[in-house]
Amino acid sequence: MKKTILTGDRPTGPLHIGHLFGSLQNRVKMQDEYETYIMVADVQALTDNYHNPEKVRQNVFEVVLDNLAVGVDPKKATILIQSMIPEIAELTVFFSNLVTITRLERNPTVKQEIAQKADVFKGGVTYGFLGYPISQAADILVFLADTVPVGEDQLPVIEQAREIVKKFNAIYGEVFPAPQGVVSAFPRLKGLDGSAKMSKSLNNAIYISDEPAVIEKKVMKALTDTKKIRKDDPGDPDVCVVYNYHKIFSKAQEPEIRSGCQKGKLGCVDCKKCLAKNIIDYLAPIQEKRNYYKNNMDEVKKIVLDGTNKARAKAKETMKLVKEHMKIDYFKE
Ligand code: TRP
Repeated sequence: MKKTILTGDRPTGPLHIGHLFGSLQNRVKMQDEYETYIMVADVQALTDNYHNPEKVRQNVFEVVLDNLAVGVDPKKATILIQSMIPEIAELTVFFSNLVTITRLERNPTVKQEIAQKADVFKGGVTYGFLGYPISQAADILVFLADTVPVGEDQLPVIEQAREIVKKFNAIYGEVFPAPQGVVSAFPRLKGLDGSAKMSKSLNNAIYISDEPAVIEKKVMKALTDTKKIRKDDPGDPDVCVVYNYHKIFSKAQEPEIRSGCQKGKLGCVDCKKCLAKNIIDYLAPIQEKRNYYKNNMDEVKKIVLDGTNKARAKAKETMKLVKEHMKIDYFKE
């Protein structure tokens, strides 16, 4: 039987080129071989944006457009909106009996996010946010997915899902597969400012939907080798963020750029102009597709509605099985 993927994004902003190489391209590759579900995780986005519903709403279709633009094919993959599958919330409640509060508090991903979001949780951490690994387990398992392509930071969340499966199956009988996290082979893309991670919240990202002029402006401000001050100073490409991006976007010119920088023949301004052009060219066909869909929102809405309906049918089937096993199927015909 075909294996099943469930993966998704929180709709808190448009997706950037870190997502593109980190997870989106992986999805596009895997959709041929796997039954693929792609979730717009609006309920999860609200766990730390409950005070900002407008932001979540605005980004739901942006995230869908980004997925379609990079090549997620609605004929192969099922795109769905989390809040429109109430079975996920129901399964979350059943799973929550199987997870202790101390176990949630020990999850390193949750811990780190709480530390980063001190402003949101200054009055205390909410039950909803602390428990998001439980609802994420339900996201995955309501579709009986066994494969979960994610960023490395999400692996502890997948590990918790596996623990839930073990416990559930031991108590109620075999219902769920133990889901496996799959991390893309691509190393994490650094932020334009040299931060370890490209991230919306750090304001150091190039978005898939950024206009050429915006991309050029962002690249021109990117961090380079801080010891290379004048055009003809020799530089060290291996400490330069811009060179790091050239390795991805400028394959053909890379050796020339490397030696030009090292010999002090290539200045940072020209080097950045070259990178900006290559990123713009790389994104051009993706943006063209994005614009097509943006101008045909009726088609996009139909894709999402059909996907969500299909996903919901699957979720209902799973919940029937779950309730049988949990002995709460009182009026079974
Ligand atoms: N937690 C993921 C993120 O922040 C998004 C997500 C929600 C997800 N539900 C999921 C990822 C289920 C994989 C599987 O990026």
